[in-house]
Amino acid sequence: MRLRLAPKIVCIFLIAEAMSLLTLSFVFIRYGQNLITSEIEERGDAVAHFLAQLSTYPVLAWNPDLIMDSAKVVMLQKDVVGLEILGNKGQPLVELGKRESPHGVMVFSADILGESQKFTDEEAVIGNLSQVTEKLGVVRIYMGLEDLKKDIRSLKLTVFSIAALTFLITVLIGAYSVHYFVARPLRKLMEGVKRVSSGDLDTITEINTSDELEKLSNAFNKMLVALKANLKKRIEETEYEAMEQNLVILGELSSMLIHEVGNMLNRFSVIEYQLSEEKLSKRGRELIDNFRKELKSLQKFTENVRLFSKRPELELKAIDLVNFLKVIVASFKFMNPKGLKFVFETDVKECLAYVDEDALRQVMVNLITNASDVSDEGSEVRVALGVHGERVRIEVRDNGPGISEEDREKVFTPFFTTKGPLGTGLGLAIVRSLIEAHGGRVWFESHPGNGTTFFVELPVLKAS
Ligand SMILES: Nc1ncnc2c1ncn2[C@@H]1O[C@H](COP(=O)(O)OP(=O)(O)OP(=O)(O)O)[C@@H](O)[C@H]1O
Ligand SMILES: [Mg+2]
Repeated sequence: MRLRLAPKIVCIFLIAEAMSLLTLSFVFIRYGQNLITSEIEERGDAVAHFLAQLSTYPVLAWNPDLIMDSAKVVMLQKDVVGLEILGNKGQPLVELGKRESPHGVMVFSADILGESQKFTDEEAVIGNLSQVTEKLGVVRIYMGLEDLKKDIRSLKLTVFSIAALTFLITVLIGAYSVHYFVARPLRKLMEGVKRVSSGDLDTITEINTSDELEKLSNAFNKMLVALKANLKKRIEETEYEAMEQNLVILGELSSMLIHEVGNMLNRFSVIEYQLSEEKLSKRGRELIDNFRKELKSLQKFTENVRLFSKRPELELKAIDLVNFLKVIVASFKFMNPKGLKFVFETDVKECLAYVDEDALRQVMVNLITNASDVSDEGSEVRVALGVHGERVRIEVRDNGPGISEEDREKVFTPFFTTKGPLGTGLGLAIVRSLIEAHGGRVWFESHPGNGTTFFVELPVLKAS
């Protein structure tokens, strides 16, 4: 038979209680029975002795009428159903009532004694003292047991009624306690488990019973929190894995695409070159110039997408950054339609760092190009190198309009550009990805209307 926990506890409790109540009842009844029986015994003895004393003088005086009177008085006593008075030789002097009863009888006897000291009424015994013998006769009292049995029956009834009432009350209290302290919190816990299995991991189950059930619910809640954290982590991991997979696919796809587009652009360049060699009208020349510009911008775009989409694979070499930067800054002086001043300054002679030359060149070109783009004709773009402890810091400063408050957050975001079709918005994203791949960092300071400085920090090997 399958029973739920609460009825099981109630059943165990009922059995234990019934057993203890029954045992107690039987002990109590036996004790009460003994009390009632000893009471009737005492009474029977007393009545027998009373009659024996009452009969002493009449027997001594051999007065049958007086003996009968005493006997009749005794017959009126409670429970007395019969009596006998016998002489000293066992001869019956009086017989009254019955010696049997349907409920049984108890017999009590007492000797009728003739000791002198028992008589205080001297006149009653005058002249007879010499004839007094020790034992004058015997009195037998027959007491009916009907009342005794009735008393015992009512005692049993009372004890069992009290036991039944106690049982009933304790059952009610016990059942309510089991419901309140066990079944109710368990049901709450069950509801919690059901909620969890239906996917709700947010609702905590509160049980304040200060016992093992409270500990169980606390453990359950802890498990819930851990489960939620674990699940969140798993989801994030899965999302991240899916995203990584997508990125890999996207990367492969875009590099294929970039490769194809690159080939096409090369073919377009050849066509553009061939066309420019032809004799063309003024309008034709203008169109070829436009075509060249578009081609360049498309080449830049594909190159930037190529750089951005591939994971930076660095070939680190120890190079002297002082020389390296000097050459890059100088190269900007040639193609310089705005007539900008490109300045390089440093207070170190040599600064060795482990870097990928191509990558760092790309970084510097992007930063100096950005600075040139925002600079007014003839203004200055300054590149500086300084060593700060174990790190080298490169600064690219311009006197342009600065970066507006609202664009600050976005400048490193891929494809964010304020340059329209001329910009890809990938320059700074590439810078950040390359610098972080070197274990460095990049940031900027900008005061609108007062220029911008981009900082690149890298680990340094040796500086002097
Ligand atoms: N020195 C600077 N001064 C002011 N704004 C800048 C500076 N450098 C970058 N920015 C802003 O950040 C944006 C993003 O720069 P990023 O180099 O990533 O792309 P881009 O220069 O627009 O395009 P591309 O690099 O392909 O030419 C720029 O469009 C510009 O608005
Ligand atoms: Mg740029």
